[in-house]
Amino acid sequence: MRRLFPIPAPYVRSADFPDTAGTGNSAAPAPAPGTSPAGNTGTVPGTGAVSGTAVSGAGVSGTTDSGAADSGGPGRAVPGADAVADFTDRRWSLDELADLYAYPGTDEGAGWLRANMVSSLDGAAHHEGRSQPLSSDADMRIFGVLRGLADAVVVGAETVRKEGYRPARAREAFAARRAAAGQTPAPAIAVVTASLDLDFSQPLFTEPLVPTVIVTGSGADEARVRAARDAGAEVVFAGEGAAVDPSRVVGALAARGLGRLLTEGGPRLLGQFAGSGALDELCLSLAPLVVAGDASRIMNAPVTTVPETFVLASVLEEAGFLFTRYRRS
Ligand SMILES: NC(=O)c1ccc[n+]([C@@H]2O[C@H](COP(=O)([O-])OP(=O)(O)OC[C@H]3O[C@@H](n4cnc5c(N)ncnc54)[C@H](OP(=O)(O)O)[C@@H]3O)[C@@H](O)[C@H]2O)c1
Repeated sequence: MRRLFPIPAPYVRSADFPDTAGTGNSAAPAPAPGTSPAGNTGTVPGTGAVSGTAVSGAGVSGTTDSGAADSGGPGRAVPGADAVADFTDRRWSLDELADLYAYPGTDEGAGWLRANMVSSLDGAAHHEGRSQPLSSDADMRIFGVLRGLADAVVVGAETVRKEGYRPARAREAFAARRAAAGQTPAPAIAVVTASLDLDFSQPLFTEPLVPTVIVTGSGADEARVRAARDAGAEVVFAGEGAAVDPSRVVGALAARGLGRLLTEGGPRLLGQFAGSGALDELCLSLAPLVVAGDASRIMNAPVTTVPETFVLASVLEEAGFLFTRYRRS
């Protein structure tokens, strides 16, 4: 896996993301409470390693292949303006990826909503109703890392129904990190639904490590709400009618200690998050595939009044897939 772009210098130097390494060229986002400080050591712990090349540094084009010179020290996961590009082929461990994608520190109860989506080159968010055909091993590795960092995975009910969502697993690779951060062994799955038309006999409700959360409106059907609770789900209201107000989801979940949020879509839900200004970060995997057809884009909701600007935070590459990460500017 190669790293193609650095965090833009103005971004890492903002007050929100102080230079934690204090070396002047290794500013990194403050890690979420309890997580290990960002630190791409350039060495490869044995677990979950992936092959590839790390590319870092503010000089994106015409950069020097610094090879071992940029093998990195503490804090090099997110290089600053004067970092040198590094096209060195090397393997990225799950720990390194977790450091790279660490949530920024947020104020108590504020929450941070990150999305992770995959798209074909021509913008399709699925192929024949499933996102899996657009994915790859590396995409699934990053998918797993992002889950490993999250308190909760927020997902639209149609994606749950179409993709047959199951509870998130506890993974050994993230156990210590999660324990140190005061997180449950696995993230909760939080399903956004107005209808609560969900099969409560499915493993998502019968076998979760942590209770599945239903996010709905206070006007949702009472019998369905009762059925959800009887099935062991926690019900969170974030809207006055049956529908959820997307701008209230992050606050409602953060108030329950679920502040590090990862939404996996689908497009209708994600479009509402973006349109309401709730989306802080987008991790977009671009698959080197063309599918044509009429699949929706990764956001499928009413147009925003003004296009919102996101800034590039990092890009990884493996096997032609680009793993981009953008943050709201
Ligand atoms: N490319 C990717 O990375 C990716 C990721 C995820 C999904 N997908 C694909 O996307 C497709 C499904 O996505 P989708 O856009 O059709 O649906 P979706 O966003 O997953 O779910 C839509 C459903 O979520 C609930 N919902 C959404 N907004 C709501 C609100 N404001 N209040 C209450 N409930 C709300 C409703 O559930 P109720 O009907 O229960 O009320 C609605 O029917 C699948 O084909 C899946 O494979 C792709």
